[in-house]
Amino acid sequence: MRVFVTGATGLIGSALVAELLENGHTVLALARSDASALTAEAAGAEPLRGALADLDILRAGVAQADGVIHLAFAHDFSSTDALAKAVAEDNAALSTLGEALAGSGRPLVTVAGTPGAPGRASTEADPLMTEGPVAGRGRAVMAALGLASHGVRSTAVRLPRTVHNQGTGGFAGLLTGIARRTGVSGYPGDGAQRWPAVHALDAAVLFRVVLEQAEAGTSWHAVADEGDKVRDIAAVIGRRLGLPVESVPEATYGPLGPIFAADQPSSGTHTQRVLGWTPRHPSLLEDLENIQP
Ligand SMILES: NC(=O)c1ccc[n+]([C@@H]2O[C@H](COP(=O)([O-])OP(=O)(O)OC[C@H]3O[C@@H](n4cnc5c(N)ncnc54)[C@H](OP(=O)(O)O)[C@@H]3O)[C@@H](O)[C@H]2O)c1
Repeated sequence: MRVFVTGATGLIGSALVAELLENGHTVLALARSDASALTAEAAGAEPLRGALADLDILRAGVAQADGVIHLAFAHDFSSTDALAKAVAEDNAALSTLGEALAGSGRPLVTVAGTPGAPGRASTEADPLMTEGPVAGRGRAVMAALGLASHGVRSTAVRLPRTVHNQGTGGFAGLLTGIARRTGVSGYPGDGAQRWPAVHALDAAVLFRVVLEQAEAGTSWHAVADEGDKVRDIAAVIGRRLGLPVESVPEATYGPLGPIFAADQPSSGTHTQRVLGWTPRHPSLLEDLENIQP
């Protein structure tokens, strides 16, 4: 398949491009800068110059592709307004991609977050989160899944809080960045809340399998580790950086504070069984040992 990928130069996208090429696909990569275009080209993809806000470029990308995987997101968590702007940009981009694919039967793989389910690991059958600072992303993904009845083989890969590679990425990566800036490896509350995780190389395999095989309207969990206690994550980060490990106020995490504080383990058992997907790469706590002081 010729696959139009947004976010192809990111942590997950770069793993995905390699996975697609190794399995006989070609990649057209949205690239918002010369540097991103060079990175995409060096990885073996064909760059298409444009940003998420360039809706005509997105339509042009769809017109040249057999399928689409939408990963790009402007990760600006500096304020509630900045995050809302990124969510609005993502919503417009995803609905444009979906409309351009309508009636074609081609696949559209979207990205969502694993939901929370009080007191237990969430499953693929649980609904996406529709409250909180990134709820708009969940609603956009549900609208995209609804295109299954309009001739789009739309699917969602739900990602856990941390998709990691070489000790970086996701929420654990944000904890590491804050620890470096503040001199404390912190966690909100008592740190007993659990976050799920997956290695980016394993997530990339699942995106490919979903693109190739999954039925329209279905959702999948790219979960390898069901839930690490946040204080255990902070402990590895603190040890690697030689910093004290302690509870810090939820406000430290800005608009993401409520999400950082929530217990949200998740399961990928159904996905592993039905799609035959087996995570093979290091767990989050193992991978964090790659953090360098
Ligand atoms: N990593 C995780 O733990 C995790 C967990 C849950 C969900 N997710 C979601 O998974 C997706 C990929 O995450 P990631 O960790 O790979 O992200 P990442 O490393 O931050 O990469 C983001 C990608 O999006 C591109 N991008 C950002 N803003 C753009 C814009 N305005 N126009 C065009 N391209 C733009 C970036 O391009 P440049 O190279 O030009 O910067 C880059 O290719 C995101 O939707 C993210 O929210 C990730």
